[in-house]
Amino acid sequence: MTPEPEILALCCNWCGYSAADQAGAGKIPYPAAVKIVRLMCTGMIDPYYVLRAFERGFDGVLVIGCHPGSCHYKSGNLQARELTDRLSHVLRTLGIGPQRLRMEAASTSEGPRFAEVATEFTETLRRLGPSPLREVA
Ligand code: FES
Repeated sequence: MTPEPEILALCCNWCGYSAADQAGAGKIPYPAAVKIVRLMCTGMIDPYYVLRAFERGFDGVLVIGCHPGSCHYKSGNLQARELTDRLSHVLRTLGIGPQRLRMEAASTSEGPRFAEVATEFTETLRRLGPSPLREVA
């Protein structure tokens, strides 16, 4: 039996994490294998965080920040978008696959959107199967 995909969700404090909190408070279900790490802003994501997550056996990394124009630090989400685009190429080169890294936006009131994105990403990872690094983690 194929194991359920393990996902690391890097969420900004002001929007992504609040949306996840809203989903929880509203009892909107999303996969339990989504592990959330709260950061002040997605702009502070270091490429090492993402690569380390795969090294530790996660099947996917989800970055959820503020919508464009809403970042509390002006452009952190735009920097994160550039970073995730660049990292997708690195993941392709490493044979992990660019589809295993996804960036989305969700505002404080978008708990249902957080749950929808987490569920969709889990389904994508189910179709892809376990990360090639999962076996060696
Ligand atoms: Fe949310 Fe910057 S504070 S992405």
